[in-house]
Amino acid sequence: MILVTGGAGFIGANFVLDWLHASGEPVLNLDKLTYAGNLRTLKSQESNPRHVFVRADICDRATLDALFAQYNPRAVLHFAAESHVDRSIHGPAEFVQTNIVGTFTLLEAARAYWSALDAERQGAFRFLHVSTDEVFGSLSATDPQFSEATPYAPNSPYSASKAASDHLVRSYHHTYGLPTLTTNCSNNYGPYQFPEKLIPLVIANALGGRPLPVYGDGQNVRDWLYVGDHCSAIREVLALGVPGETYNIGGWNEKKNIDVVHTLCDLLDKSRPKAASSYRDQITYVKDRPGHDRRYAIDARKLERELGWKPAETFETGLAKTVDWYLDNQDWVGEVVSGDYRKWVELNYGPGGTSR
Ligand code: NAD
Ligand code: TYD
Repeated sequence: MILVTGGAGFIGANFVLDWLHASGEPVLNLDKLTYAGNLRTLKSQESNPRHVFVRADICDRATLDALFAQYNPRAVLHFAAESHVDRSIHGPAEFVQTNIVGTFTLLEAARAYWSALDAERQGAFRFLHVSTDEVFGSLSATDPQFSEATPYAPNSPYSASKAASDHLVRSYHHTYGLPTLTTNCSNNYGPYQFPEKLIPLVIANALGGRPLPVYGDGQNVRDWLYVGDHCSAIREVLALGVPGETYNIGGWNEKKNIDVVHTLCDLLDKSRPKAASSYRDQITYVKDRPGHDRRYAIDARKLERELGWKPAETFETGLAKTVDWYLDNQDWVGEVVSGDYRKWVELNYGPGGTSR
């Protein structure tokens, strides 16, 4: 079986659902269930014997050792992380703990387990570390996209903690020979994304009649990838990636934030029209994020050249699917936004959501 960490979060859960749909191989899903983890997302798998869910922390070495011994996974897919830049600005400690100490603890447990395998199983074992393009820092409008050779220059506590975890993974390959793979992906969007990130936040606020907060001048650029395409890239890297290598994953979809928000408003105007106005009227420019990276862009040619991977969705098809999913799954959104979520909205956006 495969061991997935963070499989109740946005990308991890999409990966688990896709995997169980497409493959007969069981999944051991280990997740701490922080505010970002939701078993509701995995409800369809409740009685699937090929899905084993364990609530655990990747910082808990004893539990990790026991799970490796009991389930003998052939691969680890490491998604678990604190993942939201704004939260890392308000409270970086949890990011250091989970992203750095947690990845270190998982690597140590994996190394101990892997060292005791026979030669054949050792050769086949993989530790796939899911990381982000944010480790490369910020680009100007004219800089070339990030390649696998771009030097690391993380700017937020989130990206710095992910960069540290990438370096640890790299070192476990070079020093101990652990068969690691690292992927650095651009911004994801799609079903089951927690409504603290731009796209689901804008959809939820638009439908709720609340302001649509755009940081700074709205001209920051992100390179968007539909989550299903990220999952297919990870499956490809797991199957065909060369141990010790890193692979950039991106969708060739660079967009300014304000253009993303406009497109979302236009899609909602069509699907869920308001009586006399456009959702665009709810757009509100708010104080910028401190240290806000200007532009991210991914050069994903290595993945295409060496492993033959390409995204299936364009930004237009992926975003339309995403808006439809949120419109059809308002109950999911309602369930995941707990009292904690409301506290976060007050902390990040101020009373009423606009006085940031
Ligand atoms: P998410 O915040 O939605 O989910 C993270 C999951 O990890 C949650 O289920 C949470 O409960 C779990 N978790 C957190 N701390 C844990 C711990 N100590 N032990 C066990 N489980 C823990 O994040 P996501 O957006 O699904 O991102 C998944 C991975 O992909 C992360 O490593 C992130 O850095 C990376 N990534 C995300 C994006 C993106 O756009 N969301 C882009 C590129 C890379
Ligand atoms: P986000 O979804 O938080 O992802 P990341 O910071 O990891 O790229 O934000 C995407 C972009 O949208 C980023 O440039 C910040 C911006 N943004 C807003 O303008 N308003 C918001 O309320 C949020 C959450 C993000």
